[in-house]
Amino acid sequence: MTITTSLEWGPALTLGIPVIDEQHRSFVGMINELSGLIDADGSRKAFEELIERLFAYAGTHFDTEEKYFHLFQYEFAAEHIAEHDKMRDSLRVFRRDFQKSGREMAGELFVFTVEWLSDHLMKQDKKYVSCFKAHGL
Ligand SMILES: [Fe+2]
Ligand SMILES: [Fe+2]
Repeated sequence: MTITTSLEWGPALTLGIPVIDEQHRSFVGMINELSGLIDADGSRKAFEELIERLFAYAGTHFDTEEKYFHLFQYEFAAEHIAEHDKMRDSLRVFRRDFQKSGREMAGELFVFTVEWLSDHLMKQDKKYVSCFKAHGL
C-alpha cells in the first residue's frame, strides 16, 4: 500500500499559541513518519516504536490542554475532554491490536491520525484559541 502523503506544517494548522503549536507540530511529524513507514513497508518494531511515541504524545499533549482548561475555566472543556478520552481509548485499542496483529492495521491507524488532525486539531482545538490568548498564552 502506498500513501505518499506528506503533510506540511503551515498557517492552517497553526493556532498561534507556541506551547501548543510545538506539540501539534511534533504530531504532524509523526503522521508523516507513519505514512513513510507504510510506504516503505517498515518493520513491526518500527511501527511499535512509533505507536508508543504517539501514545506518549497524546498523554502529554491532552494533559497540557486540559491543564489550561482548568486554569482558565474554559467553557467548552467538557466536550473537548470527552473527545480526548475517546482518542485515548482508541489509541489503547490500537496499541493492543498492534501487539496482537502487527502492522496490517497501520493503514487504519493512519486514517485515525488524519481524522484526529482534521476533526479535532483543526476544529475542536481552534475553539480554545481566544480563551487561551485572553489568558496570556
Ligand atoms: Fe491539540
Ligand atoms: Fe484537544
